[in-house]
Amino acid sequence: MFPGNRKFATLLFGLMFGSTPGYAADTPKVVRACVACHTFDKGGASKIGPNLFGIAGKPAASDPDFTKYGDDFRAAAATGLSWTDENLDAYIADPVPFLRKVTGRASVRTYMITRIRRADERAQIIDYLKSLKD
Ligand code: HEC
Repeated sequence: MFPGNRKFATLLFGLMFGSTPGYAADTPKVVRACVACHTFDKGGASKIGPNLFGIAGKPAASDPDFTKYGDDFRAAAATGLSWTDENLDAYIADPVPFLRKVTGRASVRTYMITRIRRADERAQIIDYLKSLKD
């Protein structure tokens, strides 16, 4: 058809499956670890987790369209948590201990259990998140 035209392939995929995938065709590969639960396009749908367009620099839990933030995550947000590079890095590395530390709670629950162990991959993800703005 149009070999090499990934934008077209993405569009076709979206048409075939009744929705767009929620991220652009040039999205870095490491971000594929997130797309089961998050969309990244502006105004993208909530899935298991909130849409992440423009998340860098924002206060935590501030997506008004996402109603399923967990209690422990809301408690973390209530401490004044915001998504600086440093906080994004620690959260994406391992969400559970990060939330324990921020909330002071001995045990926390969250659906986000993805752990990105490699610092270079986290840096790539954070750069990508920072690029998602108007
Ligand atoms: C299994 C589902 C799942 C996967 C996979 C996942 N997340 Fe999440 N994520 C969530 C949920 C659910 C929340 C809401 C937090 C809560 O309720 O604990 C969240 C919250 C977030 C937030 C904070 C959003 C806010 O509004 O403050 C960021 C940033 C984030 N995820 C980034 C990522 C990145 C980057 C990846 C991939 C490396 C990823 N997530 C993978 C489910 C997931």
